[in-house]
Amino acid sequence: MKLLVLPGDGVGTEVTEQGLRVLDWFARHRGLALDITHRTFGMENWRRHGTMMPDETWAQILGADAILFGATGSLDQAAAVPPEERRKGSLLRMRGALDLFANLRPVKMPAALTEASPYKPRITEHVDLIFVRELTAGIYFGEPRGVETLPDGTRRGINTHSYTEAQITRAARFAFELARTRRNHVTSVDKANVMEAGALWRQVVGALHAREFPDVTLEHMLADNCAMQLARSPRRFDVIVTDNLFGDLLSDAAGAIIGSLGMLPSASLSAPDASGRRRALYEPVHGSAPDIAGQGVANPLGSILSVALLLRWSAGRPEDAAHLEAAVERALAQGARTADIAAPGEAVLGTAAMGDAVLGCL
Ligand code: NAD
Ligand code: IPM
Ligand code: MN
Repeated sequence: MKLLVLPGDGVGTEVTEQGLRVLDWFARHRGLALDITHRTFGMENWRRHGTMMPDETWAQILGADAILFGATGSLDQAAAVPPEERRKGSLLRMRGALDLFANLRPVKMPAALTEASPYKPRITEHVDLIFVRELTAGIYFGEPRGVETLPDGTRRGINTHSYTEAQITRAARFAFELARTRRNHVTSVDKANVMEAGALWRQVVGALHAREFPDVTLEHMLADNCAMQLARSPRRFDVIVTDNLFGDLLSDAAGAIIGSLGMLPSASLSAPDASGRRRALYEPVHGSAPDIAGQGVANPLGSILSVALLLRWSAGRPEDAAHLEAAVERALAQGARTADIAAPGEAVLGTAAMGDAVLGCL
């Protein structure tokens, strides 16, 4: 597997280092064959090369079987970069160019973290859900977009929420197929009551369900209600399929069930090619976390669990993926805690020490 590693900005570099140590364990002990290339991404490129995306790095991105990504974003420094350059080096350009339409964001409550969650144990117990967030369309990509100056000299910001039937269908098909490997239940989330694109979303998902997946239970839910249900009874969810923006917001909200965004992994997948292979990018759900970057305290489990998704979805090694997920559970059960998931009075590990704890359990 040709793996490209892009640690990126802020805590992205710190957590990816731990993800790589774990990946290396599978290379040394389980014969995982990796051809790894490392490149910088984000502000580091601007500082080093005067561009957010050197052509050679872009060629690596297009040629990789899989990418292990850290995080991007430094709002204050990015202001100095021309908008054109920012777009060239953006995560969105990568998601779009690789056509990574299916963004999987599993949210599984480890029993050991009951105290880390802000919710009551009876709410969080046995939560095991997964988002299929459509990642290459919607308001993130719709045209027209931009800022225009009105005749009175004031400005108007414009973005367009748009979905084609084909874009909805492929995300929904992914969700139904995934549900068949889980608890056979899909919640499709939209704002069909307000947006035409939402009403179309609901129609298209419903028609696909009737045509191809009548054995899967489908419920439709409005996005505002979904935000509330995720706090009130998250256990009711199995697979949640939704658009790009709602998926972004709702998955962060679901991170609160576990107690920290630092716990959530993700996989972003393209459609399979003729030989059945999907292009893929693996990254924690969180961002560059400027408030804690550079201190060695970030939780690396989002990146480490993204490596488990890589083992499952790109390496075709579901047993290894499960082995890694079990090692993370064991490390937590043995009391390993970074600051974000520690209950008052619990001893706290730094980023590297949490990596050590997982390696110990492997
Ligand atoms: P963030 O995800 O970086 O941080 C939100 C909160 O979660 C912060 O309090 C942070 O300390 C905490 N947190 C995040 N990761 C953590 C970890 N591994 N361990 C412990 N705590 C963690 O979101 P933000 O602060 O809103 O955004 C900061 C920057 O990151 C922005 O520039 C944003 O655009 C970018 N961002 C990038 C991605 C990505 O690369 N996929 C995702 C989200 C945000
Ligand atoms: C995420 C992030 C990104 C998004 C940003 C950094 C573009 O928040 O991956 O969840 O909004 O998709
Ligand atoms: Mn996000």
